[in-house]
Amino acid sequence: MKTNYYITTSIPYLNGQPHLGHALEFLMADVLARSARQNGHPTIFSTGTDEHGAKVAQAAAKHKMTPQAYCDHMSLEFKHLLKLLDISADRFIRTTDANHEKRAGLIWKALSKDIYKGKYAGWYDVKQEEFIPVGKADPARMKPDHPQAYQRLEEKNYFFKLSKYTDQIKQAITSNAFQIYPTTRRNEILSLLEEGLEDISISRPKDQLEWGITVPGDSTQVMYVWLEALINYITVLNYPEGDDFRHFWPANVQVVGKDILRFHGAIWPAMLLALDLPLPKTLYVHGFITVEGETMSKSLGNGIHPKEIINKYGLDPFRYYFLRHIPSYDDGDFSWQTFDDAYNNELANELGNAVQRTVVMIQKYQDGVIGDIPPASHDNAAIAKAIEVCKFDRALDEIWQQVRGLNQYIDEEKPWEIAGSGDKTHLQEVLSYQVSCLIEIADLLVPFLPDTAAKIKAIFSGETVKPMATTLFPKLEVAKD
Ligand code: MSP
Repeated sequence: MKTNYYITTSIPYLNGQPHLGHALEFLMADVLARSARQNGHPTIFSTGTDEHGAKVAQAAAKHKMTPQAYCDHMSLEFKHLLKLLDISADRFIRTTDANHEKRAGLIWKALSKDIYKGKYAGWYDVKQEEFIPVGKADPARMKPDHPQAYQRLEEKNYFFKLSKYTDQIKQAITSNAFQIYPTTRRNEILSLLEEGLEDISISRPKDQLEWGITVPGDSTQVMYVWLEALINYITVLNYPEGDDFRHFWPANVQVVGKDILRFHGAIWPAMLLALDLPLPKTLYVHGFITVEGETMSKSLGNGIHPKEIINKYGLDPFRYYFLRHIPSYDDGDFSWQTFDDAYNNELANELGNAVQRTVVMIQKYQDGVIGDIPPASHDNAAIAKAIEVCKFDRALDEIWQQVRGLNQYIDEEKPWEIAGSGDKTHLQEVLSYQVSCLIEIADLLVPFLPDTAAKIKAIFSGETVKPMATTLFPKLEVAKD
């Protein structure tokens, strides 16, 4: 029996439409989940939506809706995106689910030895739902006319003894019991820990913010949105008594973006330590996507809904671009031009062509009969390793080496000349080797481009090649407006 595998994404706020950044994160986690399943690991892949807090309450008010009705509506938008992207998630948690709320109360109580009453006087960033640690506030945002001005808070709330866990977290990271990829992000957290963590506020007075889960035993306070959002990773497994929790925690990989590193690299591990639970094995931190070189923002109105791209090019090209051309360990850019180039050069001319040529030659020279296919012949350890360390771009680079290698093989062997010479045995060897390479490539593509992988396998699954209804990546006339 293979070991269990648990993978999570962060759970997006519902204050706006899903965008390319969310899509990127879902896709990366999807590759890990599909790869784990392909390797025979019983897998749980969880995602969901983060529904409480000031930011969502404000968005609901702007739409003149109750927070609950607004969340019911917006949560569906994220579910639709998961479907559109063919994300293989097995769980979708909403932080307004009764099960989550109930377990959040249990967890609050379990943390109570590390909770005390205090007074917070400082800045609050609604955009990030963050109490700004002393000395970290951006002076520009202290001015009320700044578009993303902080709120000034002076309120009584509950605190969590975060400071107490600084050394234990540092130790877990430096010993690699808790791995953080990439190293730049690991170093970022280590330097934060070096400065020492301060205790943090973990509730808000209800007269300041109503939209949240009531603190057990104090009906005047709601839990801080991050506190109850982070625990989604275990409430979804029915912590504490659930079988899933017992069998699947700690998570193998938690996928998050670079802006929420502090929450996942410091606050969440401290909460787990306070609960006496093991830390996740790996935290993978992806970068940010820009669009045509610009930060995505509501004011610029340049956020692209993933469906705009998918409607024009199809899903697998979308998956391909975001997994290969957005650097897995860095920020990246989407532009229509680079997308179009990748589609034409790499998908249509390289992969599509290798399949097309092979099918056509088998039809032309062998009446479609494939013959015996030799076993896969490449060493794919580097690809497995790249996936293990969440270098999706590198894994696809390696797979494309094989695609290019195959096209080169065809160019050099010139099966059409062999056919001309009448050497049927040699021709059969060459063509079935091409098929073997394509099946191997399809297997490698399963986690990345599941539909394309299935199509390639289907073409070569019988005695004779199945004619392709359409070429895999047809040439498109794409309007670029
Ligand atoms: N609700 C919190 C997460 C709570 S997890 C317990 C949150 N939500 S979010 O909607 O703002 O962001 C969700 C994910 O999308 C985060 O990992 C974030 O880094 C990612 N991205 C948001 N904008 C992004 C880009 N422009 N590019 C890539 N990812 C980005 O944070």
